Amino acid sequence: MTGPFDIRSTIDSRRSVRSYKMIPVDDEIMESIKNFAKSMPVPFEHNVEIRFFNAEPTRTLYTVMKSPPDNVAFIAETDVVSISKAGFIGEFLILFAQSKGISTCWYGYYKLSELERLMPHLQPTDQLKEANMGYGCSKGETTGRRAICISPLGYYEDKGLRLMDRITKATFSFKRKEIKELLVDSNDYEKLSDDILYALDLGRKAPSAANSQMWRFGFEDKYKTITVAMPVGYKHFKWEYPNLDIGICVCHVWLGLIDKGYNPAVTVSEDSGRAVWRISI
Ligand SMILES: Cc1cc2nc3c(=O)[nH]c(=O)nc-3n(C[C@H](O)[C@H](O)[C@H](O)COP(=O)(O)O)c2cc1C
Repeated sequence: MTGPFDIRSTIDSRRSVRSYKMIPVDDEIMESIKNFAKSMPVPFEHNVEIRFFNAEPTRTLYTVMKSPPDNVAFIAETDVVSISKAGFIGEFLILFAQSKGISTCWYGYYKLSELERLMPHLQPTDQLKEANMGYGCSKGETTGRRAICISPLGYYEDKGLRLMDRITKATFSFKRKEIKELLVDSNDYEKLSDDILYALDLGRKAPSAANSQMWRFGFEDKYKTITVAMPVGYKHFKWEYPNLDIGICVCHVWLGLIDKGYNPAVTVSEDSGRAVWRISI
């Protein structure tokens, strides 16, 4: 199997972008992104929906920045496995867009009533309606099928960045934990092949809410299977769906192995309230 884009350079060049030119994505590029979304080669069954939508150039949706015209929502059930799959699928789309020169930013915190206005029939629960924002600030459990995260799709506007985002971009966004810190058992490090280390290196570069990097890597089957999950009992102070971030990381690890010529099998199941992924070569 070969990747649908240059895997390493795409992952290395992706950054969350929080300032956009108020122009639509070029027609041909938008078409290629939509086609990719329709026929995405995903290594598992799922019913995550990728829905493209337009927004007006106001701060209503993202609150901290103006929406560019083109945006995308990732819609799934709210059980941990479906949420995690939404992370994998969303990141695959985001990386494809990146490979076409399109900037993105995962948003878990956005104004739900505005998304509802732009995309009717989202059917948020009363509880979310009350909170009036996306998942990042709602409290407690939410159920049912809904937009888990959204992202703008557009062109970076250098001059538009807020001071806070400039600081974040320069200091925070590039920082990642070393592979050794991310292993369930750090003694495993010496036993890992170059190919596995390559895939884990791409995995650790994945984006996560507030750059939390909550993924941990374990091994089974004489290092032929990589497990990816958050620690049992992990809770983020604000972000309710860290299993989504785990799926994002798995997408990077999977692509890393594809880049090394493997066609890995990928499974995910729920264990101790977490999504636990297995990627086998
Ligand atoms: C699931 C998820 C939700 C996120 N939600 C927000 C958000 O609501 N607002 C925001 O500004 N950034 C958000 N981010 C972006 C992260 O802050 C960013 O990915 C992280 O700091 C790493 O930086 P990088 O993406 O530039 O590598 C989110 C990222 C993920 C993966």
